[in-house]
Amino acid sequence: MKQPNTQHKDLLAWVEEVRQHCQPDNVVWCDGSETEDQHLRQLMVNSGSAIRLNEEKRPNSLLVRSDPRDVARVEKRTFICTKTREEAGPTNNWEDPAVMKKKMRSLYKGCMRGRTMYVIPFSMGPVGSKIARIGVEITDSPYVVVNMRIMTRMGQEVLDVLGTDGFFVKCLHSVGYPLEGRSDIPWPCNPENTYITHFPEERLIMSYGSGYGGNALLGKKCLALRIASAMGRDEGWMAEHMLILGLETPDGKKSYVTAAFPSACGKTNFAMLVPPKALKDYKVTTVGDDIAWIQPGPDGKPRAINPEAGWFGVAPGTSYKTNPNAMDSCRRDSIFTNCALTDDGDVWWEGMTEEPPQHLVSWLGEDWTPGGGKLSSHPNARFTAPARNCPCIDSEWENPEGVPVDAFVFGGRRMNNIPLVFETRDWTHGTFVGATLSSEQTAAAEGKVGALRRDPMAMLPFCGYNIGDYFRHWLEMGEKFGDNKPRIFHVNWFRKNKDGKFLWPGFGENLRALAWIVDRCRGQANGKDSPLGIVPEYHDLRWEGLDFSENQFAELMKENTENLGEQIRSHDEFFDKIGSALPPELKAEQEKILQRMT
Ligand code: OXD
Ligand code: MN
Repeated sequence: MKQPNTQHKDLLAWVEEVRQHCQPDNVVWCDGSETEDQHLRQLMVNSGSAIRLNEEKRPNSLLVRSDPRDVARVEKRTFICTKTREEAGPTNNWEDPAVMKKKMRSLYKGCMRGRTMYVIPFSMGPVGSKIARIGVEITDSPYVVVNMRIMTRMGQEVLDVLGTDGFFVKCLHSVGYPLEGRSDIPWPCNPENTYITHFPEERLIMSYGSGYGGNALLGKKCLALRIASAMGRDEGWMAEHMLILGLETPDGKKSYVTAAFPSACGKTNFAMLVPPKALKDYKVTTVGDDIAWIQPGPDGKPRAINPEAGWFGVAPGTSYKTNPNAMDSCRRDSIFTNCALTDDGDVWWEGMTEEPPQHLVSWLGEDWTPGGGKLSSHPNARFTAPARNCPCIDSEWENPEGVPVDAFVFGGRRMNNIPLVFETRDWTHGTFVGATLSSEQTAAAEGKVGALRRDPMAMLPFCGYNIGDYFRHWLEMGEKFGDNKPRIFHVNWFRKNKDGKFLWPGFGENLRALAWIVDRCRGQANGKDSPLGIVPEYHDLRWEGLDFSENQFAELMKENTENLGEQIRSHDEFFDKIGSALPPELKAEQEKILQRMT
């Protein structure tokens, strides 16, 4: 047993209790050192659970292949366990805390036999920052340890800040594959018994059976969103599923913007946007690509930190064309999960290059050649990369005070009706737009094509309490921010014409909308009233280097009020589900917008 270097009584007692119950062979307190990291990586290579990549092509990096049954977050098995069902609300799976704890306790009994139990003290946010929070994850997965070392600040320095009685979130994780009468396998897991459970009242997380991503790296979705959203409600701050970026304009001024997009809307690409050549005098810098913790500063103005220290990005589709900064982030010191292996010991995934290599070993460990009709990488294959490797990382990304935020942006995937960008009229209108954030279903398999799939504030699977109370918290935060509240915008990069062709080129060109957003916040850009909000006219955007006519712009910005009215009315179904927890202000806002449509 590697001895703990802490006198924190509660922590020591909890670790001992878990040890006795889970019965590991060893306990290791992780110090976060390079030596420890290298040791664990070697252990994974020796055991056959990781492949070391070519040291020249991809220095200090590993490839890991998961069990094909354990490849993504499992929302069906994710639970919010509050005293009453109402506290969890209509959008979460709920279970009584005592019932769920009993179930988890029986699963955890002896679950680490034959394994090492790792204790990972970690900080979400810069160590010692007042906005940061500390967690301790106990896990039997070395893969989790090496990923947590990239995604969080972890190790002894966190124990030092915790002291003898500091507060921490308890995060217990097991892959659920004890080694009794059987030897280990490359990716142990227990899909039949997977549970990702949260006890917001106790600030406790218990996860069992999955080794993948958000199910196992408990600092991310479980702590930094589900538990943190409940902490934010109680303590007067916000935990949001938002990227944080800085935009430096040609006059040398910088403004920060946070943005919420549902999964699969190009969030990481927007966070690391590369301006088009003709607008090289703008510069985008990245503070975070997934989560923002936001607190009012002394003047009320929101200050945001990225609680994470790395990117856990979706690999397929990422390329030097779509996101060179993400590609450079994972050039080295990274962990790849469920990507394909090249013959020279590097990784590849669909979309990385136009021409696929002639031969690969797929994420399933099988020989792969182009044209065989199979994907080489799983669609949810990931890279875990240190944020400090990112060429466009913002100079203030580790500022313990956070960065000042001027605008909140919401974005969905909307084929019809919704213009490229609009500003909301005020905080309540902005909250309504966030609360009804939706994407249109694009494949028949998902249901009726064109029907709205709601993802309020992009938090549907991540809000740790009743979504109606969460909307109420948003309205209250607006008051806390006072005169320094951010403006709220909506963007849509995905509008299509009648023939199904995208009307907007997207990617770097999205800068044109972003520049308008920032100029609006600075009082330097015009906009005109429309039923949906305030929109730019053609000459309000910069068009250098893009051949985009006034007519094209008109088509892109058109608000088909008839369909729109129908879509806005359809939010009733969702609002009715929320029932009495829904703030009446949002119903009133819906009425106001409908009136503007007629
Ligand atoms: C993610 C997600 O993985 O939002 O970040 O699903
Ligand atoms: Mn996310």
